Amino acid sequence: MTSLTQIPLSVEWKDTYIRLLDQQKLPHETIFLDLFTIKDVFDAIVTLKVRGAPAIGIAAAYGLALSAQSYTATTLEEFHLQLKADRDYIATSRPTAVNLFWAIDRLVHSSKSASSVNEAKTILIHEAINIQMEDEATCREIGEYALSLFNKKDKVLTICNAGSIATAKYGTALAPFYLAKEKDFPLQVFACETRPVLQGARLTTWELQQANVDVTLITDNMAAHTIKTKGINAIIVGADRITANGDTANKIGTLGLAILAKAFSIPFYVAAPLSTFDLSKETGQEIIIEERSPKEITHIGEQLIAPEGTAVFNPAFDVTPHEYISAIITEKGILKGDYKKEIKNLFL
Ligand code: MRU
Repeated sequence: MTSLTQIPLSVEWKDTYIRLLDQQKLPHETIFLDLFTIKDVFDAIVTLKVRGAPAIGIAAAYGLALSAQSYTATTLEEFHLQLKADRDYIATSRPTAVNLFWAIDRLVHSSKSASSVNEAKTILIHEAINIQMEDEATCREIGEYALSLFNKKDKVLTICNAGSIATAKYGTALAPFYLAKEKDFPLQVFACETRPVLQGARLTTWELQQANVDVTLITDNMAAHTIKTKGINAIIVGADRITANGDTANKIGTLGLAILAKAFSIPFYVAAPLSTFDLSKETGQEIIIEERSPKEITHIGEQLIAPEGTAVFNPAFDVTPHEYISAIITEKGILKGDYKKEIKNLFL
C-alpha cells in the first residue's frame, strides 16, 4: 500500500546545493533538479518547477542561504548589502504568494544577530531549515483543525494543488484528506483540473492517489453541475495571500467556487498557515495579481489550441472577498465571523 511518506519532498537542502522535485514533469516523470545558484532557484520559481505558496517560500529561503555561502564579504556591513541585493532579486520571481516575502525577510532578519560573516552564513542555513521543518508541523495542525469540520463520507471539492508538494509536507487544503486516511475517516475528494496549467489534474490527483485517497477529477466548468448532482458537502482551498480583513488570493477559479458555495448553501473553507497572512494590506484590492504568459492559455503542453495571435488575459490568481468564506483554518485554530478582529487577535 502506498502512503503519504512516498510522496517526494518538493525541496531538499543538500548542503552545497538544493534538490527540487520538478513539478512541471509530474505526474508522468518524477525528476529531481539540482540547483546551485540563486538564479537557478529564481528560474525554477518563475517556471513553476516549484510552486504553491509555502514551497515557494522554502525554495527562496534555501536559495538565499545558498547564495550567501559564496559571498566574499569580509565585513558584516558588506555581507548585509550583498544579502539585500539577493533578497530583492529573488523577491521579483512571483508577486502574489506572500510566503515568498515572509520567508526571505525572515532570513534577512535572522542574519542581523550574527557577530561575524561566517556566523551569518550559518544562521541563514539554520533559519531556512527551520522554516521547512516548522511548515511540516504547521500543515499537520491545519489538517487536524480542517478535519474537525468534516463528517464521515463527506464529498469535498478542491482546486489547484494545496498539497504536500506545495508545502513541506501534508499541504494545507489537502492535509485533512491525508489525516482522514490515517484515521480511517472516509472522505471523497473532487479535484478541479485547474486550467491553465492543470495543477489539479496533474498534481492533486497524483498526490492523493499515492495515499490511496478517493479522488475524482473534473474540469473546472463542471463544478456547479458536480456540486448539484454529486451532493458536494463542502469546498476547501489553499491561499496565496490573506489580507487583514480576510480577503483571500488563491488560484484563478477560486472566487467562482466561493460564489457557487454560497449559491448552493455549502461551506467554503480556506486553509492556510500564518505565513500566508499579510497584515500590511487592509483588503484584497491591494493584492498584486500575477499575469502569466498567454502561451499557458493558447497551448496545452506544446500543442496550440487557439488561433495564432489570439488576444489572451491570463491572471494566475483571483481574490475571494471574506464574506464568501465560511472559515479560515490555520495552525492556531479556526477563524470565523469577524475576520478583521479574529486575524488581529491571531497576531497579538
Ligand atoms: O500558481 P501556483 O501553482 O503556485 O498556485 C498555487 C495556489 O494557488 C495554491 O492554492 C496556494 O499557493 C496554496 S499552496 C498550499
